[in-house]
Amino acid sequence: MKILVIGATGTIGSAVAAALEPRHEVVRASRRGDVRVDLADVASIDAMFAQVGAVDAVVVAAASGGLTPLEAPDDANFWRGLDGKLIGQVNLVRRAAARVRDGGSVTLTSGRFAAPMPGSSLGHLVNAGLEAFVHGAAIEMPRGIRLNAVSPGWIRETLPELGMDPATGTPATEIARVYADAVEGTAHGRTLTGAGT
Ligand SMILES: NC(=O)c1ccc[n+]([C@@H]2O[C@H](COP(=O)([O-])OP(=O)(O)OC[C@H]3O[C@@H](n4cnc5c(N)ncnc54)[C@H](OP(=O)(O)O)[C@@H]3O)[C@@H](O)[C@H]2O)c1
Repeated sequence: MKILVIGATGTIGSAVAAALEPRHEVVRASRRGDVRVDLADVASIDAMFAQVGAVDAVVVAAASGGLTPLEAPDDANFWRGLDGKLIGQVNLVRRAAARVRDGGSVTLTSGRFAAPMPGSSLGHLVNAGLEAFVHGAAIEMPRGIRLNAVSPGWIRETLPELGMDPATGTPATEIARVYADAVEGTAHGRTLTGAGT
């Protein structure tokens, strides 16, 4: 398969690209590099598909919103996770529906917190919104194209950057297998966590 991985230089995306590369042709995209896209800019999504051409699958692991206090004084700062991660992935699906080959797939990334933590409210909103979107949009995907989300918990490699214990996180290689299952398997309209869901 020809598989477009958006966010392929990141912690999760690089592990997903590495997991798929032995069996597939992987095209790596992000805001920097040979294939460029900014999920917050829908014109750049169109330009990316024009550059890459038809693909069998798209995986998105990009554009985190970060943690923002509920009472942040700056509205733009509070809402910044919305443009790339939520609206960006929705726009990606709407474009991919016309560009992915028959019987292909689109796999998005949501995420989950073990419990609410300060600054996580927008993340909860974005992740729940994405998962609801996938559930609702799956029945409208044309030509047998499957649509799923992967919902990672904290990734081991990310936790030290946040001053948290890496032992409590999932290794990126482990969550990469969940993305590979989404691409190579039969799931449709689902949120996959790798924990039997
Ligand atoms: N790491 C975790 O513990 C964790 C847990 C749960 C969910 N998640 C979610 O998983 C996704 C990936 O997380 P990560 O930790 O792998 O992130 P990361 O290491 O920061 O990597 C992000 C990747 O996305 C690209 N990117 C960032 N903004 C973009 C944009 N607007 N358009 C296109 N590409 C963009 C980055 O490259 P450029 O800078 O070159 O664009 C990079 O390749 C995020 O949605 C995050 O919320 C992560």
